[in-house]
Formats: sequence, C-alpha cells, structure tokens
Amino acid sequence: MSREPRIRRLVGELALEKKVRLTHGANDPEGRATGYVAGVDRLGIPPLRMADGPLGVRIPNESATAFPAPMALAATFDADLASEHGEALGRETRGKGQDVLLAPGANLVRVPHNGRNFEYFAEDPVLSASLAGAVVAGIQSQDVVATPKHYVANSQETARAAVDAEIDERALRELYLPSFRSAVEAGAGSIMTAYNDVNGTRMSDHERLLRDVLKGEWGFEGYVVSDWFGTEGAAAAANGGLDLEMPGITMAEMQSAMAGDDADAADGNGDEAGELPDAIADGMPDHESCERFADSLAEAVESGAVSEDRLDDMVARVLREMDRVGLLEGGDDRADGAVDTPAHRELATRVATRGTVLLENDRVLPFSDDADVAVIGPNVDEPVLGGGGSSETTPVVETDPQAGLAERADGEVTVAHGLPRIEGVSMLEEFTGGEDDRAEPSREPDLEGAAAAAREADVAVVFVRDTASEAVDREDLRLPGRQNELVETIAAENDRTVVVVNSSGPIECPWHEEVAAVLENWYPGQAHGDAVASILYGDADPGGRLPVTFAPEDAYPTADERRYPGVDGTARYDEGVFVGYRHFDSAEREPTYPFGHGRSYADYEYVDADPDLEDGTVRVTVENTADRDGREVVQVYVRPPTVDGVDRPVRELAGFESVAIPAGERVSVTVDLEALAFARYGEDGEGWTVDPGEYALEVGRSSRDIRATLRTDLEAGFRERVRQSLATGGPPPTDG
Ligand code: BGC
Repeated sequence: MSREPRIRRLVGELALEKKVRLTHGANDPEGRATGYVAGVDRLGIPPLRMADGPLGVRIPNESATAFPAPMALAATFDADLASEHGEALGRETRGKGQDVLLAPGANLVRVPHNGRNFEYFAEDPVLSASLAGAVVAGIQSQDVVATPKHYVANSQETARAAVDAEIDERALRELYLPSFRSAVEAGAGSIMTAYNDVNGTRMSDHERLLRDVLKGEWGFEGYVVSDWFGTEGAAAAANGGLDLEMPGITMAEMQSAMAGDDADAADGNGDEAGELPDAIADGMPDHESCERFADSLAEAVESGAVSEDRLDDMVARVLREMDRVGLLEGGDDRADGAVDTPAHRELATRVATRGTVLLENDRVLPFSDDADVAVIGPNVDEPVLGGGGSSETTPVVETDPQAGLAERADGEVTVAHGLPRIEGVSMLEEFTGGEDDRAEPSREPDLEGAAAAAREADVAVVFVRDTASEAVDREDLRLPGRQNELVETIAAENDRTVVVVNSSGPIECPWHEEVAAVLENWYPGQAHGDAVASILYGDADPGGRLPVTFAPEDAYPTADERRYPGVDGTARYDEGVFVGYRHFDSAEREPTYPFGHGRSYADYEYVDADPDLEDGTVRVTVENTADRDGREVVQVYVRPPTVDGVDRPVRELAGFESVAIPAGERVSVTVDLEALAFARYGEDGEGWTVDPGEYALEVGRSSRDIRATLRTDLEAGFRERVRQSLATGGPPPTDG
C-alpha cells in the first residue's frame, strides 16, 4: 500500500488514547534512547528511538565515533564533505539501533559567546543553509530521521528557555530561517523547536512560524518535536503546530536514563530530580511547568480545545516519518548501519584536517620533518572532543596533540604543560552527578619549565583552548586561565612559536602579532592529534576558512546588553541583518580575522572569472603558483545596488567551492550562486525583492580579500526568477 493511504488507515484504527501515545515521549525500556515514543503493537507500529546529536551518537555508557564539531565542518566550506559527514552520522545512528538523530544544529551564529556555537555552522545564512541541507540529506540516506534544531533564534544559552527574541521579519527571513528552510528542502523528517520565545510567543506554540511558515509556506510534511521539557500548555502547543512532546518523562527519570541506570531504576516514577548545579540551572527549562501531552492532550481533544483533525495530523506526521525510514514495514529492508568503522575513523580525521584554518603564517609552517619541537600547553595530553551538553560523545579511539606530534616527528619532541589543566565542562557529569574520569591531581603552574622547553627547541607549538557548554554562555572571549600569558611567555623565548587554538567559536588573540603562526583547529574530536600533526608537518594543506568573524568582543553588535543577553527578559535583535561580517563591513571596522579568511601553504592566482547568470553560476579559473599542492576555497560575494531608504549589507556570500589544486596547475571551478544573496526581504508586505541596478560579483579568497570584481545589471528575467525561487510557497498546510 502506498504511504498516505496506509497512514490514513492506521490513524483511523487508533483509539484516542493510542493516538495520544504517539504524540509524546516515554521511558525507553532499554534505557538507551534519549527520546522514545512507545509503539502500538496491535497495529504493527514499533517504538521510535532518538539519539543526540551533532558530534556523534550519544548513548549512555557506550562509545561511537566522536566527529569534529559542526563548526569545524563548516570551516571546510564543502557541502559534499558535509553530506558524507551526515551519511556517517546516519550510519552510526542505525548501528546503534536508533531511528532519529537529533541533529544538525542549524542556528545561525549571532552571539560569539554562545555556549553552543560549536554545534552550529556559521554566521552566514548561505553557508549555514548549504551545510544544513547537505548534512540532513546525508543522515537521511541511511533510513534515519534527521532533526535540525533549534527552530528558531536560539542564539544564546543564557536564559535560553526564558528569553524572548525580538526580531523583525526581514532578519528572520534573510538570516535565521534559511538554514531550516534548506533542511526542509533537503527532506528533513523532523524539526526541533527552540526553548525561547520569538516576538512574544513560545516557539513550541508558534502558530505563525510552525503552521504558517514551516508547514504552510515551505510544505514541511514531517513532525515538529519540542526541545526537552520545552513546552508549556498542551493545547497551545498542539494548536500552534507542535506534533510531538519530549521527553514526556520526569526530570528524575531523565537524569537516571542519562546516567545509564537500568530501565527499572529509570522507571521510578515520582523520584525527586537531582538538584541542577547553578552553573547550568539558568539555562535549563522549567521541567515542572510543562503540561504533558500524556496527561492532558486527550482531555483537550474531548473538550474541543484541540480538534480531532489536529490530533490526527500530529499522529500522521509521526507515522509518515516512521514509514519513510522503513519502520512500518517491519524494518527488514532498512540500512543496517555501523559504528566506528575504519571509514568513519578516516572521515573524522579528514574533516578535522580539512576544517583547520591557518590564520597566520610567517614562514614557520609547515615544520621540517627533523625539527626539534617543544609541545606546550595545559591540555596537550587529551583530545578536545567537544563542548559540554547533549552533544557529548565518547569515542572508541582517540589521539591527543602530544601523541599525534610524537608519532609524526623525526626530530626530538619535548612536552611541557606550563599551566594546570583547563577543565572542560561536562554538562552530562553535572547533570547526572558523575565524575570526570580524565581529572588528574592538580598541577602547579610552571611557566619557567615551559619557557625552558621552548628555548631548547627549533620550534615551539602551544596548544590553547576555550571551554564551552550547552546551558551556559562563555563569560568572555578570552582564553581561560593564564593561557594568554603562557603564549606570550613562549613567544618571548622562541621566535618560531606556533599557536594552535581549540575553540568553540571566535576567541580574542591579543598575542597574534607576537607569534609566528596561528592555527584554528576548533573542537576536532577523536582525531585531534593526527589531524593537527598532518597540518603542522604539511602532509595536508590547511583547507579551512573562517565561518565566523574573529574580533575583540566589544566590536560585535551583541556587545550591547539590550541585544545580548537582553534586558528584562527580551533580547532585541535590532542590529537587524547586520550580524557577523555584515556588521564589520558596514561599520567599516577591521576584524582580527575576517569571515572566509584562511591561508594555504600554496599560493594562488585568480586568472579569470566568468559569470553565467542564465545558469546562476560564475566560472572561476585559479592557478596554484606554488611548488606544492594546495586546497583553495573560491568565494563569491554579491554587492547589491544602493536603494534609497534601505540599509543593505556591503556584501553577502553567494556561493563557494573548495577545490584541490596540484602544484603549478590551473583549475576551473563553477560556483553556484544562491538566490538569497541577491534578494532582500521588504517589510510591509513587500516580501522578497530583487532591486534593479548594478550588482557587483566579488570573487576572492575571503570577504576581505577580493581578487576580481564583475559588474552587471541583472536582467529583469533573472531578477524575477530569483524572487520567485524564494517566494514560492509549498503546498497549503495539511494540518487541521
Ligand atoms: C537540547 C537538545 C537535545 C535535547 C535532548 C536539550 O537540552 O537543547 O539539543 O537534543 O536536550 O538531549
């Protein structure tokens, strides 16, 4: 039977209580899934199992491949690699016997302090949308439902469940919605709502953004799931367009499930929830205030507060996705999945390598094989697997920086910590009262020992890191502890000092002019040591470019507390579309490192650029003029014409292409141009508009390193096609 009749028949056979059962979470009897929907045996509807998250599959007390953080993936500017990454995540999800992956993180990076930036892609909507779509398609190719999150404007963790994001329609349309729209166009089966309000309405109740925009305009046919404990009133959520409430169990049950207690223990209804530590309490939803679907949806339907049609639609949406991944057919034909395969290990290394950004290089990198290297830093003997929170993944294998370098080097390698270990944040440990098994006895600072190691060596490489976690933002953009002092001490001893930064997003680098080279290596995951060694020794060219602008923290628009973290419970997004490089360009401020920036060990000449607007592409010819192979990321930005009364960004990323170019060779790449970069969203009912006038297409190496400018008056036909591609609504809403 084809899908829709089968779904309708099943919905028709379900009694009210069984329908409600398919709209909320329950305890997983195996104690493994983070989200679990109980099935209905009699009708052959199996349970639906969900696991986090964007960095790898997290099942309590189990391991899986710990992939690099999404921001590292974004730094590759490579949608094909993102789809391969998604496919591997999907395969691991199936390998763990789960059906849904609570990923990717698709929020735009607005606040540099956001504790979850590492789980997201970029400050630019075209880059973020391209990667979100690719990851979704990859995950879902493995018979797994992807769940892009958190829809929408979950830009901060400070008071994330209470804050009202006040955003105008233009910024929503141009910046915050495109990644979700792209995920829907890629077929996403599910969307997770954010905890926050948008313009005064809780996102899990947001009729306009859920029913009108997501399901109506975009034609989304999957289910909308709440973030965990994120709902308030059951009827308001159901009527607003939420289809599935999570987790449907108590916080106490959730905590014991996260700790990996067995199902019986996790079934202890009425257990007191353990106290949450102050550090994360502010960022947690009020789990006692949610009205659960299990308790009140049936009554709401009986009283007419929620229509039976709406309930049927909620159930149909969940069943449709179960069917799409083969669950309603006995699951026999589904992809089997696999965890921690050699191919996944290799991919984790490749993404970590390709995402590494060479911010500066004063001819010190790559190292010669026989260089004597001092490896310095408080955490050189542990890989940076990720930040704290629901994305924490435990790998089967891992390499740390010290081991990675020791393995690769022919010269002598000396190690000095210099400082006490910087403690990463594990929200899961905080949450479950567990212990950090990496914790060691506290070490005394020894800057002098580190300086001595640096003095003796040909080159010194200092590893520094930030700490970030879900439910809390970073207090500032400085490196924690005395790490800046450590870098300055080493730089004063050895003028061939290289700094490797492992961070969740932008950091301040006050020493950047005092050192010989700086690499941004993000949260690289299990392959940390191997990946960074292959870049330091030049086995691979640093192919990463910045998906976020690096600047001192007071230079970002969110330095104004009305904007972030907000005043009186409201964060005003009144910088509008001037986020990230859009802000720095229009304010004419020089960032430390601009969006799109990243050096290569090779050199490139941009030989030719030829637009084909019929096709919506620019063909760019680039020559690698160096005697070593390299990888270039060709970027195309659009500079729109000036329109009276409208503030437009100076330039917007329209397309990009990452390409390997062998030594001395020329390649031609075709860069697809995205409609979003040409259009603006006019308020007052104007909608998507493509202004007439002269546009410049800027082709270059970064948003501040333009190598060719092509000027063109867009012909009316092209402008209309662009407008229509953005304006086209999907089918009318299917819900009641
Ligand atoms: C996070 C989600 C996550 C969910 C389940 C929430 O606290 O915000 O991203 O998927 O927990 O772990």
